[in-house]
This record gives sequence, C-alpha cells and structure tokens, in this order.
Amino acid sequence: MTRVTIVGAGFVGMTCAQRAAEKELAKEVVLIDIVEGKPQGIALDLNQAAAIEGNQCRVIGTNDPKDTRGSDLFIVTAGMPRKPGMDRSDLLEVNGKIVNTVADYIRKGSPEARVIVITNPLDTMVYLMAERLGFEKNRVVGMAGVLDSARMAYFISEKLGGGIHDVRCMVLGGHGDSMVPMPQFSTVDGVSITALMTESEIAAINHRTQHGGAEIVNLLKTGSAYYAPASAAVAMAKAILRDEHRLLPCAAWLNGEYGLKDLYLGTPCVLGARGVERVVELELDDAGAKKLQQSAESIRADLETLREKALLVPA
Ligand SMILES: NC(=O)c1ccc[n+]([C@@H]2O[C@H](COP(=O)([O-])OP(=O)(O)OC[C@H]3O[C@@H](n4cnc5c(N)ncnc54)[C@H](O)[C@@H]3O)[C@@H](O)[C@H]2O)c1
Repeated sequence: MTRVTIVGAGFVGMTCAQRAAEKELAKEVVLIDIVEGKPQGIALDLNQAAAIEGNQCRVIGTNDPKDTRGSDLFIVTAGMPRKPGMDRSDLLEVNGKIVNTVADYIRKGSPEARVIVITNPLDTMVYLMAERLGFEKNRVVGMAGVLDSARMAYFISEKLGGGIHDVRCMVLGGHGDSMVPMPQFSTVDGVSITALMTESEIAAINHRTQHGGAEIVNLLKTGSAYYAPASAAVAMAKAILRDEHRLLPCAAWLNGEYGLKDLYLGTPCVLGARGVERVVELELDDAGAKKLQQSAESIRADLETLREKALLVPA
C-alpha cells in the first residue's frame, strides 16, 4: 500500500494533501503538523470531501511522527513562509531547525523513502535535509523549478494571448532572485519564445518570473503562494511514485554538471522511482553559465551561514 506523508499542514501542506487525495496519489496520505488539531481537522474535512469527489484515498491527520512510519514518499512543507520585505534567506535559522527535526524521524521511521523538500530557502533546506538524512542524494530533491517554470509559462501565455497548455518553460538555478529563466529553452508548441517575442518583452518576463513569489507575497500581505507550489510538488511526487521518468526542473544534487559539485541546484532532471534518475546538463551560453555560477555562489553563502550557526550537522 502506498503511503505519502505531507509534513506541515499550513497553506502549502493542506493544498498538497487535497491534490494528492483527489488525484489518488496514494492509498493513504498522512498529514502531520505540530499544531494540535490542525492536521486532524483538515483530514476530516478532506475525507468528507471524498464522498463528493469520489476518490478512494484516506487522509490521516496527526501530530505524532510514529504515524508517518513506512512512508514511501515525504513532501516537506513545514516551516515559516516569507512576509512582505523578507528575503527567502531570512528564514534560514528558523526553518533549518525544523528541517533537522523532520529529517530525524524520516530517517528512523521511513529509511526507504524518497523526499521532496518545499520549505524555504529551498536550495539550502534540501541540502540540509539530505545531509541530515544521510540517504543517497538522488532520493532527496527540491521543488522550485516546476513552480518557477509554471510562473514563466503563465506570463508568456498572458502576453501572447494563447493557451497556457502549449507553453513549456525552463528555469534553472536557485529558487531566489538569482534564478535563471532560460528563454532559449522555453517554447510555445515547440517554437522558442525568442522567435515569438522581442528582447525587451522577454527581459520583462524573466524579471517578473524571478520576482514571481514576491509579487504574490506582496498581494497577500500574510503568507506566500500555495496553489501552484502544491501542484508542482504533487506532479513531482506522481512522477516518482508512478516511475514516470518525466523531465522536470528540480533542485537536484550536482556532481560536476555545469562545473558545479556538492550542492543542490535547479536543473532539468528525470524523475522516476529512484527519485532523481538522471541530471540533464544543458549547453549554456556564456551569460547563462555566468548567471548559474552566481546562483550557486548565493546558495553556498547560505550554506556557510548554516554552518556558522551549527545547524549543518549530520545526525
Ligand atoms: N519551494 C517553493 O517553491 C515554495 C513555494 C511556496 C512556499 N514555500 C515554503 O513552504 C513553507 C510553508 O509555506 P506555507 O505557506 O504552507 O506556510 P504556513 O505557515 O501556512 O504553514 C507552515 C506549517 O508548518 C508547520 N510546522 C512548523 N514546524 C513544524 C514541524 N516541526 N513539523 C510539522 N509541521 C511544522 C506550522 O505549524 C504550519 O502549519 C515556507 O517555508 C514557504 O516559504 C516554498
């Protein structure tokens, strides 16, 4: 029986639980949070919705890590979101402590699990999770590129006035202001957007994509985006659980690709039963390669802060 655990029953976590249940991603979806009653209440609500939606998935709400034992896959959303004016890196310390706690019970109770990390700052938190778990690096992956690419796809479809289903985008690098939208690998029904839009239109789309998260944070005033992040995470979870071998941009462990080693960074990769089955290295022009290096440097700076605060310690 497939069991998926979603850690954190906040906006992203509960939306992941809803999407996972409605898509029957697993027989059981466990939703765990530290706030008493919150995951249990959401689970009850979702199980009652199943009577109308017609899905066969059972959602279990809990505060006890023991109930997550034997999970095939975890989606980790536990942690604070940004407030207006905050950078994702401002969440390093508070969310780093949470990720370490969660990693400890995943390792003990679900040693075979694959793990998708959503908690921000994403590229640093996925590194921390992998270090603390000690699992093979391909079993731990971060969600960012699918979301950032979806944002870019929406902005392109809005500008061109066509349907979003024909738009495919690629965003590389870290999940922050240093992310690297790749217009040359972004297409509408197979045609590169460089043939469809002017340079200044593309520059405006790239800029809006890089700040797509902040745009929503500023509109909401409290909290950050959750519908598209949950869609992205559940698409990745489905690719892993159903061994789909989908090519998706994710924060994956780099081992020399793009001249980079020993860090998680957004790159296209193939997701299947083993997690990241393959990292796909794109040929970048000088400008793209330079931006990717800069993105890697900003992640390494965050990792250094985690080390200074003694949070980056294997269990
Ligand atoms: N990677 C991405 O692209 C992306 C996108 C959106 C949000 N995020 C991040 O996801 C995280 C969650 O966002 P949200 O909007 O759901 O926040 P939220 O505040 O609505 O929910 C967070 C939940 O985590 C819970 N929590 C805290 N410590 C916990 C622990 N040890 N175990 C279990 N649960 C715990 C809280 O009680 C809360 O219910 C944030 O860090 C946010 O920045 C990342």
